[in-house]
Amino acid sequence: MPTIYLDAAFSDEERRHRLYAGDLFAFSPGNSATKLAELAQELSEAAFAPHDPEVAQDNMPPESYAKILAELKPKFIHHPRAKELIAGMLTEVGADIERTYFDVPRLRTMAHSQYMNAGLALQFHSHRDTWFSAPQQQLNWWLPVYAIESENSMAFHPQYFDRAIKNTSSGYDYGEWNRTGRQQAAKLVKKDTRVQPQADEELELSPDVRIVCPPGGPIVFSAAQLHTTVPNTTTRTRFSIDFRTVNLDDLIEGVGAPNVDSACTGTTLRDFVRASDLAPLPEDLIEAYDRKAASVTS
Ligand SMILES: [Fe+2]
Repeated sequence: MPTIYLDAAFSDEERRHRLYAGDLFAFSPGNSATKLAELAQELSEAAFAPHDPEVAQDNMPPESYAKILAELKPKFIHHPRAKELIAGMLTEVGADIERTYFDVPRLRTMAHSQYMNAGLALQFHSHRDTWFSAPQQQLNWWLPVYAIESENSMAFHPQYFDRAIKNTSSGYDYGEWNRTGRQQAAKLVKKDTRVQPQADEELELSPDVRIVCPPGGPIVFSAAQLHTTVPNTTTRTRFSIDFRTVNLDDLIEGVGAPNVDSACTGTTLRDFVRASDLAPLPEDLIEAYDRKAASVTS
């Protein structure tokens, strides 16, 4: 089982190595992370006004709710302040923003009950991000926007970290997904028909590991970590922010989490920009990963 480190004073390199080995990290809300959660709160509150975003779903049909999300989510993604705050967040936990690249921060919602379980509010099956063409160096940063409970949090299944799972990732190509899948998301409200990599065997999902942190308190985990969005059985919609990072030196040296079962093709590396100035990753480095993406190492 993994160790969960809270506010651990490791160097960024030491932390990355522990994350690649399956450990989990959590941080108290720092200055920039708090501001990032506040930005999401402000945008959400403006979008759902006069309703409180956490209970707005009780006051409107799913179709109207989906329309609001379809405007709100891109607004957050493209907000220039969000990107500055991520650079601030990374600096505050000791990452070198000249060597760290991130992809756009996403605002996610998990409605409570059976209100909406498709498209933009999709409740993900248990998965590793590496089944979706993420590099083995990818680290995921996840933080709640409002207070969460165990019943609307994220569940980790570390017993599978180094255990291969039969899965359908071989049918997934990130380039193909970008061309077709994403545009369909906004149109899906009740049922999601897009093909997503998923486990192709019965999983032992309990016991699981959950971390309940305060708004703006980030959890960091490897993209190879099996995780599930907990079905929201509370009375409030969960709002969360997530983004991913990769470290340039680890990409160059091929240091990352072990690939035990991902067989997808393509790479998400073109989505990453340098935290200091939003420059893309070197294309020759990306191409090397694009070529290697289909090989399963064990
Ligand atoms: Fe994920």
